[in-house]
Amino acid sequence: MKLINANKKFILKNEEITILNNVSIEFKKGTMYLITGHSGSGKTTLINILGLIDKLDTGKLLIDNIDINNLNNKEIVNIRKEKIGFIFQDYCLNEYLTAKENIIVPMLVNKNIKSKDRNNIAINLLEQFNLSNRANHLPKKLSGGEKQRVSIARALVNNPKYLICDEPTGALDKKNERIVFEYLKKLAKSGICVIVVSHSNEIKKYADKTYILEDGIISEVKNEDN
Ligand SMILES: Nc1ncnc2c1ncn2[C@@H]1O[C@H](COP(=O)(O)OP(=O)(O)OP(=O)(O)O)[C@@H](O)[C@H]1O
Ligand SMILES: [Mg+2]
Repeated sequence: MKLINANKKFILKNEEITILNNVSIEFKKGTMYLITGHSGSGKTTLINILGLIDKLDTGKLLIDNIDINNLNNKEIVNIRKEKIGFIFQDYCLNEYLTAKENIIVPMLVNKNIKSKDRNNIAINLLEQFNLSNRANHLPKKLSGGEKQRVSIARALVNNPKYLICDEPTGALDKKNERIVFEYLKKLAKSGICVIVVSHSNEIKKYADKTYILEDGIISEVKNEDN
C-alpha cells in the first residue's frame, strides 16, 4: 500500500487543517506499523484514506499496484471488501445485532465463505477473543472492552491483506491489550500488513516500524524496544 505525493486538508470557516502535506510512504505486507501523533494530528483521517473510507485531495494511493484514482465507487467497495479489515476507533457495531451477528455480517458479502461455515467462523473468533459467553448479547449489553474485541473479530473474518486499526485497545485492560497486540503481531508475521494507530506504550514492543504524524508530515521514529 503506497501513498505518493499525498495531500489532504480540511478547510473550516477560518481555519485550514493540513493532515497530509505531500506525503510519500509505503506500507508493506508482513510488517506491523505503529502510527502515533497528538490528538487532532490527523491519524484517523490518514487511516480512513488508507482504508478507502475517505479520499485524498491530490496525489495517489496504490493498493497492490492498483491506482485507486482510476477506480469507480463499486470497484473501490470491492477492493475494501476483499483486501481490507478496519477496526474503528468507536467500534461502529450494529446496535440491533448480537456480537455474533455483527461478526457474521462481513461474511454475507464474501463469496469465498460458504453460508454453512459462517456460524463456526464467528464462534471460533469469539472464542479467540474471550467472548464466547457474550455471543448473543446486543452491543448495549457489552462493556467497552467487549465491544472493542467484537469489532476486532469482525475486521478479521474475511482474511484481509491489510488490517487497519484505529486505537484498537483504547478500552481494554492490560491483559486483553496484550492478547490483541500479540494477535496483531502474529497476523503481521503471517504476511498481513498491519497498521495500528495507538497511544499505548505497550505496542512499541510489538511494532516493526513506528511513525509519527505531525503538521502533515510522517516521520519514522526509531524504536528502542526492537
Ligand atoms: N470531516 C471533517 N471536516 C473538517 N475537519 C475535520 C473532519 N474530520 C476531521 N477533521 C479535523 O481534522 C483534524 C484531525 O482529525 P483526526 O480525527 O484525523 O485526528 P486524530 O489524530 O485521529 O485525533 P485523535 O487522536 O483524537 O483520535 C482534527 O482537527 C479534526 O477536527
Ligand atoms: Mg483518531
